[in-house]
Amino acid sequence: MKILAIETSCDETSVAVVADGIIKSNVVWSQIKLHAPWGGVVPSIAKRAHQERIDGIIKQALEEAGVKRADFVAVTVGPGLAIALEVGILKAKELCKKWKTPLIPVNHLEGHLLASAPDNEWVPALGLVVSGGHTELYLVEKIGRYKTLAKTADDALGEALDKAGKMLGLGYPGGPVIEKQALLGDVDSFELPMPLKGREGEGRFSYSGLKTALLRLIEREKLGGDLSEETVQNLAASYQEACFEHLIRVVRVNALPYLDGNIKYLLVGGGVIFNKRLREKLNELGEELGIKICLPGKGLCGDNAGMIGLAGYQKALRNEVVKEKDFDTIERLPRWSLEE
Ligand code: KG4
Ligand code: ZN
Repeated sequence: MKILAIETSCDETSVAVVADGIIKSNVVWSQIKLHAPWGGVVPSIAKRAHQERIDGIIKQALEEAGVKRADFVAVTVGPGLAIALEVGILKAKELCKKWKTPLIPVNHLEGHLLASAPDNEWVPALGLVVSGGHTELYLVEKIGRYKTLAKTADDALGEALDKAGKMLGLGYPGGPVIEKQALLGDVDSFELPMPLKGREGEGRFSYSGLKTALLRLIEREKLGGDLSEETVQNLAASYQEACFEHLIRVVRVNALPYLDGNIKYLLVGGGVIFNKRLREKLNELGEELGIKICLPGKGLCGDNAGMIGLAGYQKALRNEVVKEKDFDTIERLPRWSLEE
């Protein structure tokens, strides 16, 4: 069963070919350079860039997989930027009509989760998505059935890092540059408040307080003139550590009630899981809780169509596909929750 998968929900234009659940090609074209001057993703720029590149990327993905067509086309229909999602959906419908194949609408978050699924039997399990738009802990009852155990009350983890990158004058996206600076700094040099301390069981993450606290520290340090390199490194280290520590605390408390022996895995997905310190902290948590932390392989952390193809494959096995006569029912769903 060959699936061509398309992902255009944000600032990566990506197309993959997945055959019988195995990724054969996964072409990702990142638009980061186009958005960086604006300090964040500009939807209209994303839309135009997707439109300009998509045909070439489809061609490349087919060539790299050594196939001319597919049996299904899977596409991200949400969540994401409405006008960016639209580009992928229109292209998917066009290809389905040309190839006379059904379409598989995929939730971007399900893609992030399934990107790290182990080969063996793994459900029920826990799942965690940490990206620029989402910070969510799930109970995966089975593939296709998810229950939210915790989500962010304000910013997503990646967003909190991106905003801090901007405040520290490090550019966009903040996650990777903060990681680099943090490696050179001392995590104990600045004290930051731990969000929702003692209330981790409420099923919420929160990053806005940390962001404000960082801003205050920056303002205070700037009274003595421009921030020194060392101060930036120390602020980055202290802030990153506080962000990750809060994540770990909320995951620990909200996961515990479900660890009755049946659950052996925590699947983690999303761009922030590129971060080595976060991987380390999650692995430590896994040891403490007696569960295995599953991390995505190379090329599957950030946004990519390979993961959409993997989720699409699972939906095809359940026959959750849409025939051409019903294509009008497929719409972009910018705020699609994984529970629906
Ligand atoms: O999953 P993703 O590519 O796109 C979304 O669906 O949002 O995640 C992007 C996020 C950005 O916030 C970016 O700063 C963050 O992932 N990120 C990182 C690292 N690389 C990317 N955060 C921390 N450390 C990194 N090395
Ligand atoms: Zn994503």
